[in-house]
Amino acid sequence: MFYLTTAIDYTNGSPHIGHAYEKVLADVITRYRRLRGDEAFFLTGVDQHGQKVQQTAEKEGIHPATFVKKTTKKFSKLWEKLGLEYDGWAETIDDRHKACVQQVLTTLEQQGQLYKAAHKGHYSVRQEQFLTDKERGEDGNFGPEWGEVVEIEEENWYFKLSEHTDWLKNHLEAVDDSVLPAFRKSELLNALERNSGTDLCISRPKERLRWGIEFPFDPDYVTYVWFDALINYVSFAGYLASPDAGLPDFSKLWTADERPVHIIGKDILVPAHGIYWLCMLHAMGFTDDIMPRILVHGWWNIRGEKMSKSIGNIVDPGELADRFGVDAVRYYLVRDIVTGKDSDFDVERLVMLFNTELANELGNLCNRALNMSQRFTGGELHPGTGLTDAETALQQSLTESIGAYRAAMDNFDVSKGLEAISQHVVHCNGYAERMKPWELKKDPANADRLATVLYHLAESVAHCAVMLSPVLPEASAKLTAQLNAEHLKDLKLDDLKWGLLEDGHKINKPKPVFPRIVIEEDA
Ligand code: ME8
Ligand code: MG
Repeated sequence: MFYLTTAIDYTNGSPHIGHAYEKVLADVITRYRRLRGDEAFFLTGVDQHGQKVQQTAEKEGIHPATFVKKTTKKFSKLWEKLGLEYDGWAETIDDRHKACVQQVLTTLEQQGQLYKAAHKGHYSVRQEQFLTDKERGEDGNFGPEWGEVVEIEEENWYFKLSEHTDWLKNHLEAVDDSVLPAFRKSELLNALERNSGTDLCISRPKERLRWGIEFPFDPDYVTYVWFDALINYVSFAGYLASPDAGLPDFSKLWTADERPVHIIGKDILVPAHGIYWLCMLHAMGFTDDIMPRILVHGWWNIRGEKMSKSIGNIVDPGELADRFGVDAVRYYLVRDIVTGKDSDFDVERLVMLFNTELANELGNLCNRALNMSQRFTGGELHPGTGLTDAETALQQSLTESIGAYRAAMDNFDVSKGLEAISQHVVHCNGYAERMKPWELKKDPANADRLATVLYHLAESVAHCAVMLSPVLPEASAKLTAQLNAEHLKDLKLDDLKWGLLEDGHKINKPKPVFPRIVIEEDA
């Protein structure tokens, strides 16, 4: 089983394109794995506890539970709109999750992995963490990124993180795909060099924070939000759950032959996932052969600037989908960023990419394949009797595209996978321009040649519809319907070979699937 998760989004705000990108990427990868014939399980959800939620709810004068219900809906509604098909939904206020977190705490306590100690120091309210001298800027002060910093002394529970960092270093060095891409692993190893000797404070006294999971053996405390949130990856996979909890069978999801993949953004690798989470799992008794793979994606900025409420440049992905269509948004998000790198969000690029790659290139191919077949051969497809070098080259181009697509997608590189499809589409359009079916149809003596050309174009569209289905499920379904080839929906990647459409196959009435986006200028 391929078990894929995303980060769970904070519910103190609204979803933005950074959140949407990560979830669409995960949806695309899951759909691709199913296309490959693998069983897959996709978990996503929301992070509902913590100080920020408590504070924002207080400002609005409502209970945190009421507040997170309201904000959670903004996320789940958006995911529905963007066509995400997830198998599990994580909400950290779920009693099943709470029970799991408490059981993990109890077991770690019994095994001597936790201790209680007093600590006096600087605390960042915004980041919900104690600060050390390492966090001070060059001027000796804590920078604005920490928000309000207060001095507090309190007793808390600690997790013996430092006992696991030697193991972690060895694990990261020994296992190639522990963190992807490789340059992120180097960042993590560098951070570990600086970071080893400290333990992790995992509790908050209730007088300071009530909105969290209560410590099972010390009811004056709640669990630190990161310790709580990270456990979602196992709790909603059925870890320590009773069989009637309505959760998956953990032993089927979390396996050594296909280690789980966590997709996260670059800001939460160090220390949360790369250090805390892997050490937590190690302390919980997870062995090296079942340690998850962490896939780290880059950052979406807006015209070179960080997205932020105060700059007021946050783009609502739901509005984008209403304006340009779900497929345009899905396509843009995974096309214009190379997995792992940063990208710059720009509506004009969204429109430009849609118009050039989908409306022009692919749209043109579909129009030629379907519309001309309808008009020139009554919608009936025949491979014809004689193939020239041009057909051999076209079939070769398709084989290469499928291979490049598979290699890129196996490597979680969706942008490159889309490029591989595009390459064949461009080849087909060049072929059509050289073969000129619109000229061939003028002379009945060319009927066989005309059929061959149109067949090669239609067969290419059929292949593209299948390969595009993880990214553009709606468009792919429309193309399949117009091709009158519902059997394409059941095909696996291995089934893609020349001849998906039989001799004599009749297509349905075509209709443009990628109408050009025209932006009305304000008068
Ligand atoms: O970090 N571009 O939640 P979050 C790309 N609750 N990705 C972005 C982004 C941007 N501009 N902004 C955020 C949290 N993300 C925690 C996670 S997991 C156990 C707990 C990504 O709402 C970010 O990197 O701040 C993270 O992967 C996800 O969106 C949720 O961010
Ligand atoms: Mg964040």
